[in-house]
Amino acid sequence: MKVLGIESSCDECAAAVVEDGARILSNVVATQIPFHAAYEGVVPEIASRMHTEWIYGVVKEALDQAGLTSGGIDGVAVTARPGMLGSLLVGLSFAKAFAWSLNLPFIGVDHMLAHLYASRLDGAAGDEPPPEYPFLGLLASGGHSIICRVDDFDGVTVLGTTIDDAVGEAFDKVAKYYGFGYPGGAAIDKLAQTGDASAFAFPMPNLYKGEHRYDLSYSGLKTAAINQLEQFRSKKTANLEDIAASFQKTAIEILLRSLFRAAEDTKLTTIVGGGGVAANSYLRSRLAEQPELRSIFPRLDLCGDNGAMIAGLGYQYLIRGDRSPLNTTASARVRTFKRRYP
Ligand code: KG4
Ligand code: ZN
Repeated sequence: MKVLGIESSCDECAAAVVEDGARILSNVVATQIPFHAAYEGVVPEIASRMHTEWIYGVVKEALDQAGLTSGGIDGVAVTARPGMLGSLLVGLSFAKAFAWSLNLPFIGVDHMLAHLYASRLDGAAGDEPPPEYPFLGLLASGGHSIICRVDDFDGVTVLGTTIDDAVGEAFDKVAKYYGFGYPGGAAIDKLAQTGDASAFAFPMPNLYKGEHRYDLSYSGLKTAAINQLEQFRSKKTANLEDIAASFQKTAIEILLRSLFRAAEDTKLTTIVGGGGVAANSYLRSRLAEQPELRSIFPRLDLCGDNGAMIAGLGYQYLIRGDRSPLNTTASARVRTFKRRYP
């Protein structure tokens, strides 16, 4: 079964064709980064307008690269939530029209569940076989930071989540203040390669009690890193690489502390990562050095937003017989993601 997957939740206009939930026949990602770079952040109005202009061409390219016409598609999957509403609506409306006009089964899926699915795609995690359920999921992106127990492609229990900012957002904001470049995560990761991560002792949050045992917080770290900029400007006692490396180390150690605690408590020893921050080199190397844990990360081009993960996840719903009605609407947030997800 060949499923067309469409993703437009943020600043990537993406479409892919995936066969039987695993084999990627095409995966086209048109990034809007250059158009948002001047503003050092995603401008929702620009994003939705660009999606509107690009969506047809991106889907056409995905079909062409797969060597198919629309008649060769057996089902359509699209991100319906969470994300920026105006952007989501473009992909969702296009997908609905595509499915309706060709009388194809249609499913609207959750973008975060799709990030967890990414490493199941053929070749996504190197030679690693697809992870067996249950496992621990680590979802880290610009809008979410979630540690969860994953029992199935749609069976996720949130154990911990951020109580304020997302980890990717902290990377982006700190990079913005320091002028490291946009998007901030990759820029900080690169700069940190030559920095001394022990140069600054940035604060770790202290909220790991009771129901917050696996929760995360980034506002304190973000503020401390930004305040450091003033000292840096006035005294010039540090170099920017050291600040980037120290910030990155703390940001990732915050994630890892909760993740390791969850692994110990649940006795789950397989970790599956997803979302843009899963591309972080410090995170990957720290997890790779844990002998008792098996960590599976999608390859870099499948960490960020893409249509292949949407098509793959969509296939699982479609073969189960699930369909979304054509009046399905987009949701910016997933209401219950604090403790139960989806
Ligand atoms: O999943 P994604 O592409 O979009 C969202 O759903 O948010 O994630 C984007 C986030 C951004 O905050 C970006 O700065 C961050 O992922 N990111 C990274 C790295 N590459 C991208 N953060 C840390 N290190 C990286 N190498
Ligand atoms: Zn994402």
